[in-house]
This record gives sequence, C-alpha cells and structure tokens, in this order.
Amino acid sequence: MKTLFIGQNLIYLKSIESTNSYANELLEQINPLEGTLIYTFNQKKGRGQRGNRWECEANKNVALSIILNPPFLKLDEQFLLNKFVSLAVADLLAEIISSNGKKQEVKIKWPNDIFINNKKIAGILIENTIRESTIQHTVIGIGININQTQFNSDINATSLSLLLNKEFDLLMIIESLCEFIEARYLQLKSNNRGDINKAYLHQLYLFNEWHNYTSNNTIFEGKIIDISKIGKLQLQLKSGEVKDFDLKEIKLL
Ligand code: BTN
Repeated sequence: MKTLFIGQNLIYLKSIESTNSYANELLEQINPLEGTLIYTFNQKKGRGQRGNRWECEANKNVALSIILNPPFLKLDEQFLLNKFVSLAVADLLAEIISSNGKKQEVKIKWPNDIFINNKKIAGILIENTIRESTIQHTVIGIGININQTQFNSDINATSLSLLLNKEFDLLMIIESLCEFIEARYLQLKSNNRGDINKAYLHQLYLFNEWHNYTSNNTIFEGKIIDISKIGKLQLQLKSGEVKDFDLKEIKLL
C-alpha cells in the first residue's frame, strides 16, 4: 500500500453482513488506528442510504469501510466528508476509464452516488460518531460495482466490466482507491475546502440543467445551482425562487 495511513491497518473478512456495521461495532470496543480499512468480497447485507439495501454479487465487487477521525470538522461541516469521498471515488473511476482509452464522464449525483452514462456505479454510506459537537469518528462505506455484469432490472446500475469489457483485479482497485482517498482527505485536512467545493460542483450530475423534480407530491422544473454548507441541494425554480432540499424531500423524475 503506497499510502501514509489509509489502509495501513487492514482487516479482511471472508464474509460479513456489512463492513460499515462491523466498523461501528469495532469503534464501540477499541480505538482503531486512523485509516483502518475493513474489506470483504462477500458482503451479505450491505446497507445503503435511506435505509436501502446495497446488493453486490460475491467475489466481483469492492465493498469496504474506512475509519477516520476528523475532529477538525465542525458539525455543520459534515457534508465535506460526502464531498471529499465522492471526489476520491470519482477520481479513481476516471483514472481507470482514461487508462483504458475511454472517455466516459464520471459524475457525482447529489449527495454521493457515482454515475457513469446515467447509471449508478458506486454508492457511499457515511456514518459519523458525534461527541461534544465534533465528529469523533466517521465510517466511510464504499461499494463499487467492478466485475459484476448482471443487475436486477429494477436498479439502474452499471459496472467497470460492463463499461470497459474486461475484468479487474479487486485488490489493485482497493489499493488505488486508498491513494485517492488519502490525497483528497489530506486536501480537506489542509483546509483546501474551496478546491473541494469547486471540484464537487464541477462534477455534479445535472448541475445547471433544467429537469423535472418531485417534492411534497408536486412536480416542478428546477435547476441545481449550488449545495448549501450543510449539504442541502439548492434548486432554482422557474419563478426565479431558490429552494433548499434535503435527501428525503426531493426526487428526480
Ligand atoms: C448507497 O448508494 O445507498 C450507499 C451504498 C453503500 C454501500 C457500501 S458497501 C460497503 C459499506 N458497507 C455497507 O453496509 N454499506 C457500504
């Protein structure tokens, strides 16, 4: 591992219900080294955002959790965690795509889904432990579809294999992901927040485009113009009004 701390302490599990749940349980018992990485190639009950399940076929995908201690972030800055991790996963995928001679764009769908060709290729679940109004620990859970080529028809998913027509070495991808996570985390830690905010907006799916959304049983046209400090989606409406939405309040049609 060519990193300073991300993934230097490695926990490999032959199979587990959820690497995020395992990481949270570990944090209740001990104080693991910052950057501890928990990974498996057989996650049986992966958890997603909004209480959803994260399905992944055994031995074909990356499912991991990384433990970080970011007390330098105030509570109202938590969304920076979503931003830096989304960017790191997008960096990794963009590098793999371009080194395979392809040009597909990697997009971040707010808050932190990674999309290529309008399909989801990776998901992120961040769980924070808050103590005395700082973030004591965070568990960064990342699932990336790598060699899986069949998905339930009700999910709009893709994988590296589907996009690039070849198989990938999962361990090499994990190693490279750790490097991108570390680089973006150090960028965040060194207070380079302007760059992180700019890069996130630059890669945001549907940014600055008019689309139909639904909220509170109404359908309306809106354009994403920014993300608020606490991570709400800021939409401009046709009336010119700007409204903030959180994850439970809005859906793209
Ligand atoms: C989502 O898109 O809803 C988030 C999916 C996050 C999945 C990853 S896989 C590794 C880690 N362990 C979990 O139980 N979930 C995350």
